[in-house]
Amino acid sequence: MKKKAVLFSRMESYDAVARDYAAVFDDIELRIFEWPWIRKLVARFRPRSILDLGCGNGYLSRALGGMAPEIYALEPSPVMCSIARKNLGGAVILRQGAAESMPFGDRGFDMVISLLSFRYMVWDRALDEIHRVLKNDGVFILVDLFAGSFNPRYLHKYAVSWAAAGIQYAGNREYYKKLRILTGSENWRLMLREHPKRAVEDAQKALAEKFHIQGIKLLSAALKGSMVGFICRNKAVIN
Ligand SMILES: C[S@@+](CC[C@H](N)C(=O)[O-])C[C@H]1O[C@@H](n2cnc3c(N)ncnc32)[C@H](O)[C@@H]1O
Repeated sequence: MKKKAVLFSRMESYDAVARDYAAVFDDIELRIFEWPWIRKLVARFRPRSILDLGCGNGYLSRALGGMAPEIYALEPSPVMCSIARKNLGGAVILRQGAAESMPFGDRGFDMVISLLSFRYMVWDRALDEIHRVLKNDGVFILVDLFAGSFNPRYLHKYAVSWAAAGIQYAGNREYYKKLRILTGSENWRLMLREHPKRAVEDAQKALAEKFHIQGIKLLSAALKGSMVGFICRNKAVIN
């Protein structure tokens, strides 16, 4: 009973920032580091069914339409879910729920993608569920921000990431304005404090229990953290 109450409060926490967040990230092309990488992987693996886990306003699910016959999206926040429902219409099967207890049967998906939602999950329970809903040879693509400190090895990556983000801000003042409203809000600060960035090594260790990690890509880097992508193959379940 107590456990459920804790999970419920984690799920609800995105409600407070949902509208501001959805207003900023209304186009997947704004994800200049993440989306080209994800798109390439979807084209490479050619999944029939994809689950967009923690879909937010649904901009990734919408962009995936046409790349796979079946797109599913799962989102726990009721406010985000209603925004996604409006954005997605009927083309994507959208369900409300959390990664730790998914409303899907076993081994139904060729691919699960978590774009910037993993940080908010209870990792061991979510990974058990991702393992369960993926087919035996299914692929889990994880992209998220992980904690970091200055590393001289990444000097080139810092410079490229900083320049690319700068060009993006300069070329899209409206986006920058909305981003500042979001990141300046007390609710955003509270939410990030409640869900601090975790170490990439911890994610790697957690993933390795249920998946074969086939690739790790540093997508962008900043002094306070890095955007990292993982390509994971589900470990087969043998009955
Ligand atoms: C930073 S937003 C990312 C949304 C979207 N994937 C995107 O790229 O814009 C984080 C999302 O994770 C969702 N989330 C939070 N806890 C979750 C959980 N336990 N299971 C699945 N999604 C969760 C939030 O409601 C929110 O929509």
